[in-house]
Amino acid sequence: MAYRSVASLESLVEPDRVHRMCYVDPEIFERELENIFYRAWIYIGHESQVKNPGDFWTTQIGRQPMIMVRAYDGQVYVLYNRCPHRGAMLCTDRYGNASRAFQCSYHGWQFHFDGSVRHIPAAQGYDNTRLSMHDPAFQMKRAARVESYRGFVFASLSTAGPDLLTWLGGAQAAFDDMCDRSPEGEVEIVPTCFRIIQKSNWKIFLENQLDAVHPSIAHESTGRAAADVEQAYEERTGEKPPLSYKMLSAFIMPLEKWGELETVGHPYGHCMLQGYMGLRPTDPDTLAYEAIMKQAYGEERAEDILNVNLHHVLVYPCLSVQSPLQQLRAVRPLAPDRTLTEIWHFRLKGAPEAIYRRSLAYYYLVNSPSTMVNADDLHNFRICHEGLRTQGGEWVSFHRNAGQDPVHNGIVTSVTGMSEMPMRNQFTAWKAYMLAGG
Ligand code: FES
Ligand SMILES: [Fe+2]
Repeated sequence: MAYRSVASLESLVEPDRVHRMCYVDPEIFERELENIFYRAWIYIGHESQVKNPGDFWTTQIGRQPMIMVRAYDGQVYVLYNRCPHRGAMLCTDRYGNASRAFQCSYHGWQFHFDGSVRHIPAAQGYDNTRLSMHDPAFQMKRAARVESYRGFVFASLSTAGPDLLTWLGGAQAAFDDMCDRSPEGEVEIVPTCFRIIQKSNWKIFLENQLDAVHPSIAHESTGRAAADVEQAYEERTGEKPPLSYKMLSAFIMPLEKWGELETVGHPYGHCMLQGYMGLRPTDPDTLAYEAIMKQAYGEERAEDILNVNLHHVLVYPCLSVQSPLQQLRAVRPLAPDRTLTEIWHFRLKGAPEAIYRRSLAYYYLVNSPSTMVNADDLHNFRICHEGLRTQGGEWVSFHRNAGQDPVHNGIVTSVTGMSEMPMRNQFTAWKAYMLAGG
């Protein structure tokens, strides 16, 4: 088929539309793993998941099973989950503590947490052979590069490319905003996460995250029900309803209001949505938290932190971060039509319990198995993918405000929050990754 050559791959992405093959074609998916997921920085986990030596979490980068582990030197390593003897996976638990070393369940080879060999049973059998314990070929392989930013650990399976901070660029704001909201400047993971396998391509999920046109339509029933209860509550008690209702009723803001928000597109496909939901009500819990923040940072700096109104930051291609509510979703593509998302939640170190409970409420409202919100999205993801499989049309439209968003120094600012700029920005990066090295 024509699109298999690089020249025709290029023709699949136009400035305002992309071909459906980008989503459904198995060969394109393979190339995405090679060119995007095995080259870019991919989120592995948070350092607080592995506090003690021997603590590990397993995850995956594309089809590569990886282990994040804390070693006795205090450093966090990211290793391929594979024994160099005959290939067995070393950790089959999702997480745990491996005590002094990883030990393979097959022939008992043991490895230090930096991947080096600790012990091979009856090792004299290897005397006068080509096997050497000091040869990296017989050690657990490390990810080519590992870096972390404010406790968030990323790995790249390629030695080439920009360092993590350069690559993140403006998307660093996601982690700054999340951590700065802690009086101690740090967050801590709340284990474990929701895991959802979506029956759709991974890009459909990321495109939805900053899609400001869909909430008031796709989530209308949820938003409407919450608004009704909010109103009844206020009439009955004369008091402002709890913030958790607002978290749902905000979905049915009129479209013009969504249009007033701003989306920003950064290099490498990262995007952000700002100005959605101010989280500074004047209830006693919030005021107590703000007082602690002012004590920790001083009046001016605390105000700056609390006034950041980021709603969502996409770290393309692997993360969707909602920093003011301390949650992130990691994207793990499994197949063209299967995507695993891991939805993690964090606690602001040093902040009052009530503030944690507030963001936990949002985490459950939008993500739990009984959510009324994510269910709408998952349904739309599935039916989009189903439709894209058909011969009912060849193109996916990203025409809304195409060609109208101003660009300054490589950063695109949407003319309206409803612009499909974030989708176009993601595909600009997609195309660059997919054509690189081709
Ligand atoms: S496969 Fe791991 S020790 Fe043999
Ligand atoms: Fe949604």
